[in-house]
Amino acid sequence: SNPPIPVITIDGPTASGKGTVAQRVAQHLGFHYLDSGALYRLTALSVMRRANGNPIPLDDEHALAKAAEHLHCHFSGAHIFLANEDVSNDIRAEAVGNLASKIAAIPTVRQALYGLQLSFRQHPGLVADGRDMGTVIFPHAGLKVFLTASVEARALRRYKQLIDKGFSANMEDLSKDLTERDARDSNRSSAPLKAAEGAYLLDTSAMTADQAVAQVLEWYAAAKALH
Ligand code: DC
Repeated sequence: SNPPIPVITIDGPTASGKGTVAQRVAQHLGFHYLDSGALYRLTALSVMRRANGNPIPLDDEHALAKAAEHLHCHFSGAHIFLANEDVSNDIRAEAVGNLASKIAAIPTVRQALYGLQLSFRQHPGLVADGRDMGTVIFPHAGLKVFLTASVEARALRRYKQLIDKGFSANMEDLSKDLTERDARDSNRSSAPLKAAEGAYLLDTSAMTADQAVAQVLEWYAAAKALH
């Protein structure tokens, strides 16, 4: 039979640098890349931008799950489209991330996005980043990494990202947002943010992205040599 398609999972809290690291690792290995947080952000954006002008209320779980299930999105290089509109920047707004975190706590929303996430596993391999890539979506991944960084380091990274994208931001609000989001993502009962069994822990507070990428590639080479 064919060998299974390799998967590397990179989970961690918001603004831990996992997106940058995962993308560069994927690029280096020639693998596909799944930004699972983008799927929750796309769901949040579609919920905020209802055609009738009325956002779906947070207690209407059925309608939220439907929105996730019928997400008309596609990925093209670094660009992300919702109903053929390029929303690559729009989904990065803090309001969208915060709503994504809230609806991501709903089990039926998570179920609705399950199959779509699995479909990213294609030859020659996949690097997947998120909160539950190693624990729930790809529990048999050949390498699992859990990226962390201090709240200060993460707030500063998020600040730079937002300013770069033309959003306004301030450090105090961002630190508060991050702390709240961490608590919500970690304490929910459905697929909470936590390190998978066997995950390698990487604290990137004092690391450059290049150093983090090099470490993940080294672990991957070692894991591959074992198989
Ligand atoms: O990684 P991110 O900041 O783009 O993710 C936005 C939100 O989506 C995050 O706060 C929680 C949710 N999320 C999730 O629950 N599971 C994932 N695998 C990825 C993101």
